[in-house]
Amino acid sequence: MAKLDLPIIPQHVAIIMDGNGRWAKQRGLPRTIGHNKGVEAVRQAVRAAGECGVKYLTLFAFSSENWSRPEAEIEDLLGLLRRFIRRDLADLHRENIRIRIIGERQKLRSDILPLLLEAEETTRNNTAMTLIIAFNYGARDEITRAAIQLVKDVQAGLVDPQDITPDAIGSRLDTAGIPDPDLIIRTSGEERLSNFLLWQAAYSEFVFLPCYWPDFDRQHFVEALRIFAARDRRFGGLSDATTAVVV
Ligand code: IPE
Ligand code: IPE
Ligand code: MG
Repeated sequence: MAKLDLPIIPQHVAIIMDGNGRWAKQRGLPRTIGHNKGVEAVRQAVRAAGECGVKYLTLFAFSSENWSRPEAEIEDLLGLLRRFIRRDLADLHRENIRIRIIGERQKLRSDILPLLLEAEETTRNNTAMTLIIAFNYGARDEITRAAIQLVKDVQAGLVDPQDITPDAIGSRLDTAGIPDPDLIIRTSGEERLSNFLLWQAAYSEFVFLPCYWPDFDRQHFVEALRIFAARDRRFGGLSDATTAVVV
């Protein structure tokens, strides 16, 4: 791989993988073919992130709102996730990649939950990169569950309401211990978050790419990293350049 000549690489990249259906429609194919092809793009994204030195990669695989899709499509998507874990877990483990799952899991079906837990358990000590799969994930649901946990902790006398800080909330989210995403990429031309990482995206940079997810490859990933590297992140303060002029 040619060395990337970028001044800064994001530590955490999160991707809203969108456009499988439109990719298929454009070709007169059923949506399910688009989802199938999307799995290949997932593999490309994981490989590219590892090669570029990204330490955390989050992929939005299935939202808490996606249950409103036709049953057959839901089955396709669940089947693909199951097959992805069965087929790719050994490879990911060999690549020293840790897998974490975010999203509501208590109500998940018994044909999916054990697989997710196995993926987390098998790879828990891996250190090269963390691959976070957002499945049955919705940020409002995540924040609501964190709020419930916080109330329980207050009721149990473990937390004083006066000690409730943003960190107290963040540490009860599914993403506890994972740094906030520096860069959020969404494919397919849509420019919205669709209930993804609302809390964690407070200071993320957004890159919206026109390509549909099944077409996503290493070049698109690097393009997004380039756009990110040219951004001036200020976090409410002043940029280094501005400070240099003032001093
Ligand atoms: C992304 O593609 C996959 C999931 C949301 C699970 P879509 O299925 O949303 O494809 P479009 O947006 O209809 O083209
Ligand atoms: C967001 O895409 C969810 C995932 C990529 C898993 P959607 O296709 O569900 O989002 P909307 O409905 O266009 O906002
Ligand atoms: Mg979509």
